[in-house]
Amino acid sequence: MCGIVGYIGNKQAYPILIKGLHRLEYRGYDSAGIALLDDDTNLHVYKTQGKVANLEAFCKDKNISGTIGIAHTRWATHGEPNDVNAHPHYSQSENLALIHNGIIENYITLKQMLIDKGYTFVSQTDTEVLVQFVEYVKNENNLSLYEAVHQALTQVVGAYAIAVIEKGNPNVLIAARKGSPLIIGIGEDDFFLGSDASPIVEYTKDVIYLEEESIVQITRGQKDIVIKNLDNVDLKQNIQKIQIDLSEIEKGGFPHFMLKEIFEQPKSLLMCMNGRVERQNVVLSGIRENIEKFRNTNRIIITACGTSWHAGIIGKYLFESFCKIPVQIEVASEFRYRHPVVRKSDILIAISQSGETADTIAAMELAKKQGTFIYGICNVVGSSVARLTDSGTYTHAGPEIGVASTKAFTTQVAVLTMMALTIGKELGTIDDATYHRISKELSQIPQKIESILSHAERIEKVSKVFTYARNFMYLGRGYNYAVALEGALKLKEISYIHAEGYPAAEMKHGPIALVDEDMPIVVIAPKFGIYDKIVSNVQELKARNGRIIAIVSEGDDRIAKIADYSIEIPDVEECLTPLLTVIPLQLLSYYIATAKGRDVDQPRNLAKSVTVE
Ligand code: M6R
Repeated sequence: MCGIVGYIGNKQAYPILIKGLHRLEYRGYDSAGIALLDDDTNLHVYKTQGKVANLEAFCKDKNISGTIGIAHTRWATHGEPNDVNAHPHYSQSENLALIHNGIIENYITLKQMLIDKGYTFVSQTDTEVLVQFVEYVKNENNLSLYEAVHQALTQVVGAYAIAVIEKGNPNVLIAARKGSPLIIGIGEDDFFLGSDASPIVEYTKDVIYLEEESIVQITRGQKDIVIKNLDNVDLKQNIQKIQIDLSEIEKGGFPHFMLKEIFEQPKSLLMCMNGRVERQNVVLSGIRENIEKFRNTNRIIITACGTSWHAGIIGKYLFESFCKIPVQIEVASEFRYRHPVVRKSDILIAISQSGETADTIAAMELAKKQGTFIYGICNVVGSSVARLTDSGTYTHAGPEIGVASTKAFTTQVAVLTMMALTIGKELGTIDDATYHRISKELSQIPQKIESILSHAERIEKVSKVFTYARNFMYLGRGYNYAVALEGALKLKEISYIHAEGYPAAEMKHGPIALVDEDMPIVVIAPKFGIYDKIVSNVQELKARNGRIIAIVSEGDDRIAKIADYSIEIPDVEECLTPLLTVIPLQLLSYYIATAKGRDVDQPRNLAKSVTVE
């Protein structure tokens, strides 16, 4: 995915665009670029490979001025990350500049048609094809920029959020979206564009979340924006207030967003449970209103990707324990393509922090076609996932900017827990005492996380011992199997150390062959039901000289004796342990990665949300 920023008004565009790019850099950091019209309405493009800071350095000595501009930060799909493939892209005559987030699927056909007409291309991108195609359509039919973009898009297959400006046309900014998000900010005398609200919130709280397949013309000095769909029908301008504050998208004194977000978890969980968990009860309106659907279904399918999928695994365990409904958990990218049997009587739960993950959205669309009831768990208000659902629950974690998900995971697990408790209570599949006890314990989770965070230094010390490692293993059972997967994912994505998560008892079916004195093994072993079996698993590993880091319950005296290092978590109900055991694992990954000098907020090759297949 990429990030898009735009500005038209009476202020200088460059500082607004650069600041916006920094805020959207989490979406991709392969290259960055800016296009502006100067005071003589000439069009200039500045772009460089790498991060926004490189672009700033490149622009430093240039005399850049102009009050209309567009800017882009790229996560490469078509064509390697270099200066030439960076956006914005010029059209053949260099009269148009365009930025794009998404993929134009029929770009090869369009490119061939344009080559046959004499157009030449400098980049390998699908985006350059699009801007050339817009110019071709414009010139062939003598159209305005808006008409040309509209007509071109009716012939484009794929996903896009785009913004276009034109030399000699300083009063018009055109934008469009299909499948990729785009927001318009409405200022006093100016307008802003953003892939999300972060580049806009500093200037205005009034925004329009553009509908699917909308094309927009913003005209300098005119209050009314033209917004139409691809069929040229006027769309309603639904102005909403941005829910986030500037402070939420800044680091607040932490060296990285990831660390800030790890430490924010007590607060994000309080926000997530606010008005929902009270006096040993859980009130989740999305579930209460749709309880008959849950009563009558034979199956729940949970689908998601990455960390959200790990939360989904915990959801399966919760729903099967407390609601007695069979649950299938599906990686969205597999589910969407393997011709799954989905029935109208099923319920599909989609989990996504960003609400823009292409595979999750496709899985939802597949189920929607069967008439399946879709329930969403999502963090970003107004996102595509949120709009596609029949009902749902927002996690209210606040903006998550670090590429590695942390507070998104714990709030998703909290929502799944609240759902399981509410459904179980309504269906009578959980006894009252258990329901009240777990509800009460859930409300105490933020304090317990605080207490783990207060020992972060100890985890940092442990992390220093293991920066040598080239491989890591994470083991957990029951609810903590998913935490083992999540711990391993966190470590590999930010430290680039290879890590595997396994159900602890699976070790002896193969992976134990890898264990030697160089292999650190993180064992998640709070004191519950099959604790004795985990003790045996740990002994087996120790007998093979594995180096054990154990996450154990307060006061544990068995595993702690065998392990090389142990980290305690406060006592808690078994089903709530993932909310605590994951915290030391997040910190361990963070400290190992920073000790190795990694860029934890923007790890290589990754982007915050994956809006392409
Ligand atoms: O926005 P989503 O929750 O749909 O994103 C799903 C995954 O792409 C995401 O969780 C990814 O795995 C994170 N980088 C994990 O830290």
